[in-house]
Amino acid sequence: MNTANIKRVACIGAGTIGSSWAAYFVTKGISANIQDINDEILKKAEEQIMGHLRSLLVYGVINEEQMQESRKLLKFTTNISEAVSDVEFIQESVLERYDVKEKIIEEVDKYTSDKVIYASSSSGLLATRLQQYSKYPDRVLVAHPFNPPHLIPLVEIVKGKASEESVQTAASFYKSIGKIPIIINKEVPGHVANRLQAAIWRECIDLVLNGVCSVKDVDSAVCYGPGLRWALMGPNMIFHLGGGDKGINGFLSQLQGSFETWLADMATWDIFPDDTGEILASGLKEEIGTNTINDITKWRDSKLINILKDLNLI
Ligand SMILES: NC(=O)c1ccc[n+]([C@@H]2O[C@H](COP(=O)([O-])OP(=O)(O)OC[C@H]3O[C@@H](n4cnc5c(N)ncnc54)[C@H](O)[C@@H]3O)[C@@H](O)[C@H]2O)c1
Repeated sequence: MNTANIKRVACIGAGTIGSSWAAYFVTKGISANIQDINDEILKKAEEQIMGHLRSLLVYGVINEEQMQESRKLLKFTTNISEAVSDVEFIQESVLERYDVKEKIIEEVDKYTSDKVIYASSSSGLLATRLQQYSKYPDRVLVAHPFNPPHLIPLVEIVKGKASEESVQTAASFYKSIGKIPIIINKEVPGHVANRLQAAIWRECIDLVLNGVCSVKDVDSAVCYGPGLRWALMGPNMIFHLGGGDKGINGFLSQLQGSFETWLADMATWDIFPDDTGEILASGLKEEIGTNTINDITKWRDSKLINILKDLNLI
C-alpha cells in the first residue's frame, strides 16, 4: 500500500499509549478512530489526548489552528467494527496480554481487508504468536513505541512472519509522519531498546546496592555524562569518534582490555535483589527533593521538546 493513502488510523485501546498515539496521529493530519471498552474510559482518553495537544500548544510544537484541526480528526467509539472498517492502518495498544490481543485480532479480521496493517504496540509479546491469531498473518506486526509516543520518535518494528511489503509499508508510514522506525529481523524478548535499558539499569542498581555511589549520583553519571551524547548518537558512533583518526579499531586497540576488565566485574544477575525497590525509593526521595512527580514530568517534557526541536524531530 502507498503510505500516502494512509489518512485514517484506528487506535484500538485508549490507555496511556493509545491516547498518546492518537494525539500524535491527529497532529500529523491523520484521522484517528479511537476505540476502547466503555464510554467512561473513552472520556478519560479524550481528556488525556486534549492534555497532550495542549502541552504541544504550550511548548510551541503546534499552533491554535492546528490544535483545533487536530481535535476535529478525533472520533471515539466502543464499537470495534466502526473503529476499523474505514481505516488504512491499525495501531493496537490494548492490555499486554495474548488473550486480549487475540480477541481483537479476530475481530479486526472480520471487518477489514487483508491489506490493512495491524501494528501492535506490544512491549514484549511475540509477533509470531500474535500473527498466529490472524487469518492474514502477513499484515500483523509489532510496532513498539517509546512512552510517550507523541514525543519519542523511536518505533521498533518486529517482523516475525509479516510480509516484507507490510514491514516496508509500516516503516515508510511511520517515517512519513516523523517517527524513526527500526526493523527487528529476529524476535528477542524486550526487542532492542528495552534490552539496552535493562542492561544499564541492572548495572546502576548494582552500583547502588554495592555502596559504590548513591541513587542520585548514578543518575547524574548517566545524564550529565554519556546520556548527553546518547541523545545525539549511539555507542558505536561515539566510540568510533573516540578513536580519533583511527576510528573504532583505534578505540578498541587502546581500550578493549579495559572494557574487558570492567565487564568481568559487572553485574550478571537476572532476578532483582530483594531490597531493590526500598533502596531505590529512598535514594529517589533525596534526588527529587521538594519537587513533585508532576513538576519533574513537566520539566522533562519541556526539555525533551527542546532537544527534539533542535534535532528537527518534532
Ligand atoms: N506504558 C508503557 O510505557 C508502554 C510503552 C510502550 C508500549 N506499551 C504497550 O502498549 C500497550 C498498552 O499499554 P498501556 O500502558 O497503554 O496500557 P493501559 O492499561 O494504559 O491501556 C490499555 C487499554 O486497553 C483497553 N482494553 C482492554 N481490553 C480491550 C478490548 N478488548 N478492546 C479495546 N480496548 C481494550 C483498556 O481499557 C485500556 O484503556 C501494551 O501492549 C504495552 O505493552 C506500553
